[in-house]
Amino acid sequence: MITSGRPRAQKAVIPAAGLGTRFLPATKAIPKEMLPVVDKPAIQYVVEEAVRAGLTNLLTITGRNKVALENHFDRHWELEQALEQKGDVNRLRRVQKSQMLGEVHFVRQGEPRGLGHAVLCAQAHVGQEPFAVLLGDDLIDEGDPLLEPMLDAQQRHGGNVIALMEVPPEQIHLYGCAAVEPVDNDGDVVRVTGLVEKPAPGEAPSNLAIIGRYVLDPSIFDLLSRTQPGRGGEIQLTDALAESTRSGEVGVVGVIFKGHRYDTGDRLDYLKAMTRLAVRHREVGDEFREWLLEWVNTPEGQGTEGSAPH
Ligand code: UTP
Repeated sequence: MITSGRPRAQKAVIPAAGLGTRFLPATKAIPKEMLPVVDKPAIQYVVEEAVRAGLTNLLTITGRNKVALENHFDRHWELEQALEQKGDVNRLRRVQKSQMLGEVHFVRQGEPRGLGHAVLCAQAHVGQEPFAVLLGDDLIDEGDPLLEPMLDAQQRHGGNVIALMEVPPEQIHLYGCAAVEPVDNDGDVVRVTGLVEKPAPGEAPSNLAIIGRYVLDPSIFDLLSRTQPGRGGEIQLTDALAESTRSGEVGVVGVIFKGHRYDTGDRLDYLKAMTRLAVRHREVGDEFREWLLEWVNTPEGQGTEGSAPH
């Protein structure tokens, strides 16, 4: 039970304004957050996760292809009417679900100047309260709790809370990386003593990677407004959080996640997410699993025969 008396975060910010270059050309005209994972766009899973954790005031940071995102969370009268006339209640409910999830607001990031800059665009909406940030292309398996323990940790310890996940040492250069030390008697919560964005091989302080969930203190806005462009010429959230570990005024705590997480902006991870969620799908799961099991034992499935890869 939380007894600190600190307010619990109520708002969620979902950055979805990146260029999605790893997934071109699919992301030329639609944001990567709108790519479907089975029958819902990735961002809907993220919004549903936020709502499950009690965050019903959502702000999406949109980029140049914002129309598809806005339309998805808005009503579609013609479609609803057509389904109603056909008596297709199931599909009607599915269409209506995305617009009934919570209060979804939008703000435009004029130029994709980095995740830190995207979060800074939320300042006027968030105000002076702690708030969550959920990356719109990062899926956390519904059965593996992460956001709620992070909200708890923020209430207990204050400051900024980041999600950390162990990755193989040879992959840590792809992530923000944390130096940590134990805190309390809770093995899954650690104090973050330093952070480095995409460390050069051999320079990583650990194999704990930052993944796409944060619960932040509003003082982060001040730090972000003073953060200079870093890696890739972008304003990095990791750099502002690293400053927060150094200044000592508002610390950073890490919650270590041991469940399943998928970066749907990465093609391989996207395919894994699609497969896992497809085999569990209420309507198509059983048939898909059956087909998959048969197919992996065919020469094509074994990679010994079939068409050339594109
Ligand atoms: P990524 O680094 O995964 O996004 O950002 P990207 O730049 O679109 O990726 P690639 O490498 O080109 O494929 C993590 C999250 O931050 C958002 C992205 O939309 C994603 O949800 N983001 C990133 C912004 O909202 N604005 C930015 O300027 C950059």
